[in-house]
Amino acid sequence: MSKYVAAIDQGTTSTRCIIFDRQGNIISVGQKEHQQIYPQPGWVEHDLEEIRKNTLEVIAQARISASIQASDIAAVGITNQRETTAVWNRRTGKPYYNALVWQDTRTGELVSQFAQNGGQDRFRTKTGLPLATYFSGLKLRWLLDNVAGLREDAERGDAIFGNMDTFLIWHLTGGANGGTHVTDVTNASRTQLMNLETLQWDDELLSIFEIPHSMLPAIKSSSEVYGNVVLDVLPNVPIAGDLGDQHAALVGQTCFEPGQAKNTYGTGCFMLLNTGTELKVSTQGLLTTVAYQFGNQPVCYALEGSVAIAGALVQWLRDNLGMIQKSSDVEELAKAVEDNGGAYIVPAFSGLYAPYWKADARGVIAGLTRYVNKNHIARAVLEATAYQTLDVMEAMERDANIELKSLRVDGGMVANQTLMQFQADMLSVPVVCPAVTETTALGAAYAAGLAVGYWKNFDDLRQNWGVAQTWNPQMTEDRRSKLYKGWKKAVERSFAWED
Ligand code: G3P
Repeated sequence: MSKYVAAIDQGTTSTRCIIFDRQGNIISVGQKEHQQIYPQPGWVEHDLEEIRKNTLEVIAQARISASIQASDIAAVGITNQRETTAVWNRRTGKPYYNALVWQDTRTGELVSQFAQNGGQDRFRTKTGLPLATYFSGLKLRWLLDNVAGLREDAERGDAIFGNMDTFLIWHLTGGANGGTHVTDVTNASRTQLMNLETLQWDDELLSIFEIPHSMLPAIKSSSEVYGNVVLDVLPNVPIAGDLGDQHAALVGQTCFEPGQAKNTYGTGCFMLLNTGTELKVSTQGLLTTVAYQFGNQPVCYALEGSVAIAGALVQWLRDNLGMIQKSSDVEELAKAVEDNGGAYIVPAFSGLYAPYWKADARGVIAGLTRYVNKNHIARAVLEATAYQTLDVMEAMERDANIELKSLRVDGGMVANQTLMQFQADMLSVPVVCPAVTETTALGAAYAAGLAVGYWKNFDDLRQNWGVAQTWNPQMTEDRRSKLYKGWKKAVERSFAWED
């Protein structure tokens, strides 16, 4: 009997392979960062070849560091940065262009063009999404319009599209020699090309966006065998799970009941609320998305509050301003002061996502006086993530007509005690962190393990979830509302910056 399940987490800044045991414990990890390519302000790209090679390397790292045989691995699950858009040639495997990363804003003009006829919410009922630079459909349209020869090749059936899950599954299952061209319902729900009810590519949307159907992968559930790895790194291991990273984190947090929510603090920050089999169209600026689908079980939906910049603001403080040496140093600086000294940072680097959806917003630092020092700025950096989370939680409670009793959290920033305490203070509910914080990879492993019978059911998974730490709200309501009012004012200052 196989001892482990592996997960590949292809994220925005790095690719990782984590191997788990039946209790959800981490046995080993391989990780490698990749280059962030910024050709112009607002443009963000990844080198697909670099990511493909890193993926093989991190699988090998994870196996070697714990001396794990491929035959010890029951299945592998894939999870990925969502929306990031790749096109490559089915015969050669060669990419036509770098991947356009989810944060990339080059489709701003296409967004305005399509919104002219019917507004930003024109496709919301069908897709759950507003028109925005964020999603894959318009990124693909940009590539078809701007890369010489791509449209012709696509129409001939040679050029194919995929998000990072599809790209990796295709390569791992054989690439140009018969690789499987598939995606799952969660990733497909972020393209703005899938109908949320039928779970199929929507011909009307494809014709409006002028995207050839033949480029698109087959849409599968999030948990089934898509094919076996044919490469030496994991010979014959079935790939049996595929979920967008935020959906995987919801599964890793075992939020299987309607009304349960999680927030993941990574590059961005993404809160998902399980709404069960009910498809709720948001009126509050949230996204409706597929939460997961296990094999032929009914699909579950979620409301999502997507925040583009969270941890990335700390990286900006480190890399662009040189104010700290490593990301974790931000806490030392921030906790040296009691508060933000009146300063707020709105990190609208890619416009503002939920609940505002302002493509033309840009970052601002507001409330500066001679009093403000670098400690206050560090604090404002951390607080920005907490305020943005409060923005989406308020929208979620209004949309779903519920009051959240607590919030499950995960991702790199949960190690920051100052932020997590401030988060609980702002939300006025306990913030709860599980023992295994690698919930994204764990969720992909769960999907793969369930598909091959390594785990039997949700109860097996729920047993693996345990609390590591809880932060309880401590701030007075007066103070909280005063701080939040300042944030709201600062947000307004960021609007309508780009012409
Ligand atoms: O929608 C984008 C999201 O999937 C990226 O997640 O963790 O790479 O910031 P992350």
